[in-house]
Amino acid sequence: WAVDSGIESSLREIREGIKEGRFPARAFNDQQIFDLEQQRLFPRTWCFLAHESEIPSPGDYVTRYIGNNNIIVARDEQGQIHANLNMCRHRGNVMCKSEMGNASHFRCSYHGWTYKNSGELIGVPYMKEGYEGRLKRKDWGLVNVRIDTYAGLVFGCLDPRTPSLEEYLGGFQFYLDLYLKQGEAGSEVHGPPDHWVADTDWKICAENFAGDGYHTPVAHQFGFNLGYFPSSGSTHSQGWAASIPGRGHGIGLGHSPNFPPFGGFPEELTAEMKRTLSPAQIEVFSKVRTAVGTVFPNLSFLMQPFSLVPGETGVRFVTMRLYHPVGPGRMEMYSWCLVPRGASQEYKDEAYKAYTLAFGQAGTFEQDDFENWTKVTRSAKSTMVKNIDFPYIMGMGSERDPDFPGPGHVVRPYVNDTNFRNLWGRWADYLVGDVEP
Ligand code: FES
Repeated sequence: WAVDSGIESSLREIREGIKEGRFPARAFNDQQIFDLEQQRLFPRTWCFLAHESEIPSPGDYVTRYIGNNNIIVARDEQGQIHANLNMCRHRGNVMCKSEMGNASHFRCSYHGWTYKNSGELIGVPYMKEGYEGRLKRKDWGLVNVRIDTYAGLVFGCLDPRTPSLEEYLGGFQFYLDLYLKQGEAGSEVHGPPDHWVADTDWKICAENFAGDGYHTPVAHQFGFNLGYFPSSGSTHSQGWAASIPGRGHGIGLGHSPNFPPFGGFPEELTAEMKRTLSPAQIEVFSKVRTAVGTVFPNLSFLMQPFSLVPGETGVRFVTMRLYHPVGPGRMEMYSWCLVPRGASQEYKDEAYKAYTLAFGQAGTFEQDDFENWTKVTRSAKSTMVKNIDFPYIMGMGSERDPDFPGPGHVVRPYVNDTNFRNLWGRWADYLVGDVEP
């Protein structure tokens, strides 16, 4: 695959610029960069495919993407999860045309080849008359995709040289547990994801959710004014920005001094977390009001207390979102509500209500964000923008907070660009082609 030499050298310049706290506007809406991401980034990273609770029973499946590759993620009759390219091996037809469902087999609508949900080819019309023994079914199963899991999250990777998911996450699991281990039974999805298309570059969302506490008091000002958020414009900057250097993952941890420890969690879940999480996690999580983080490249989480009654502590909701790029400046959003599996139905429903009002497809906070993100994307496309950079110098040179017990590079305050420099540095490494397998 030939790459224009101009873009190669500008990518190296972009990488140097990131170290100095600059990032180019054009990256957010550019065909060449989009193509390079498809070739060099998504196939080599661990990309989120599904939460195990989306496919709890034998035969359950969802179809998702790694870059531009459509993948069937299915649970077989023995309960094992498989990921396979959603393409018939005969002439390349799309095998499964639904986004989710239950099937023991997939039969191609073109010539009728049939595969088990594990991907094994088991049925070929006119096998004897047509192929006369030349076709070996075992050689023509669906193309298998490597998977790995963490706490219910199923990831896929197309590159056999990429290290294990555990190594790839590089300690970020400490923070992911805040979303995924709220109680001994772990987490589950509350229904299927909201799914929509937006004229927004996926990277804008990934950056925002890597800890952009800076926008909240402005873009979501009404949340403060109406009392939905248990913080104020003046206390909002308090907290930490944590990132895993060289990995791209980052999280913003907002802290409000007056917010009660574990505020918004039911008592029984708090008791379970105190029993199951590490002392360092308990110390951090008890202080965290808001946690907004991105697993590089395109999976994010947000946990936020949200009160349906302004001024009260409210309920904690968790949203998990995946930004699937479909073109330069265009993406599909998948947005789930995650709930603690062991919580009462009443708590789960309250959390889902809070999520839907705030960050569902028509959620008020979601609308605030996309209004800004679509405009950023539109600006990034213009001719003059080609040579314009943005400043990423907030918190530059900050020392690690020596008292913070969690892993990674952790700086104060919450309002900070440190996580973004780390995110874009990793992105540039992949695009330049310098990531060690
Ligand atoms: Fe699927 Fe021919 S393309 S059977």
